[in-house]
Amino acid sequence: MSPFFRGILMTSVLLLEAVTLSWGAGQDVLRPRVPHDQIEAARAVTNPLPASDEMIAKGKMLFEGKAFCKACHGVDG
Ligand code: HEC
Repeated sequence: MSPFFRGILMTSVLLLEAVTLSWGAGQDVLRPRVPHDQIEAARAVTNPLPASDEMIAKGKMLFEGKAFCKACHGVDG
């Protein structure tokens, strides 16, 4: 096999592996975290904090900052 075709082959294998690996990681991120038998209890939880302007501003700061929520949920939640 010529070095040129071997190069093409190696690049193809590496690209395929990169796509496969990133797809696998993406699937794990989207895996449901709440067990099926606890989903109703989780949905019944209400926010104990007041929806004041100050609280919302603090939540926004966390959501977009160190709490890392934006990474998965995007800017609009
Ligand atoms: C690693 C990715 C990831 C990060 C980071 C993340 N979430 Fe989530 N979030 C998810 C996924 C996936 C679900 C759906 C879970 C399920 O179906 O069990 C979810 C569900 C939720 C829900 C329920 C939405 C609904 O309609 O039922 C809320 C609320 C939520 N996330 C808030 C947050 C907040 C607040 C943060 C930051 C503290 C955060 N998430 C960080 C991935 C993420």
